[in-house]
Amino acid sequence: MSPFLVMNNIYLTGFMGTGKTSTGQELARQLKHNFLDLDELIEQQEAKTIADIFKEKGEAYFRALEKKLLTEISRKDQQVVSCGGGIVIDPENILLMKETGVMVCLFATPEIILERTRKFSHRPLLNVPDPLERISVLLAQRRKFYEQADIIVDNSAISVVQTAVQILKSLPE
Ligand code: S3P
Repeated sequence: MSPFLVMNNIYLTGFMGTGKTSTGQELARQLKHNFLDLDELIEQQEAKTIADIFKEKGEAYFRALEKKLLTEISRKDQQVVSCGGGIVIDPENILLMKETGVMVCLFATPEIILERTRKFSHRPLLNVPDPLERISVLLAQRRKFYEQADIIVDNSAISVVQTAVQILKSLPE
């Protein structure tokens, strides 16, 4: 977090299935901030699902959109933003989040992530024959990015409300 922080956005990052959206909604409710879901905004803007964007235009196209929207959003204040799990692979995105607010990262074990994501098929990166293996590999690759967050909460064994409380307690004054 920058000592010259002027914006007070909260960016929720973390792997797919770590509860960014539900935790973000709870935080926004408690703080009376706006809640934004980056994936949802991308889908609205493109009038396509994330799965279709990946299939028709490819991951690089999606990542460019994600970065552009994050840049636009970061110009406003008092927002809780739920980001897609891969936002952290671009170091400029991490910098931007930290410059315009607090970067939070949610963690959970691969087994819990599998349990939370297996009911859904809208995540193109997990639509593979062995999703647990994919989760473990991707999580290991991304860990060094996620660990740059200002606040880290493992919510494998706690509820959405408990996760939000932990984040609220860790926010700077
Ligand atoms: C992705 C995570 C997804 C979505 C896209 C790519 C990733 O968001 O942005 O499928 O690379 O981890 P959620 O983390 O909200 O599922």
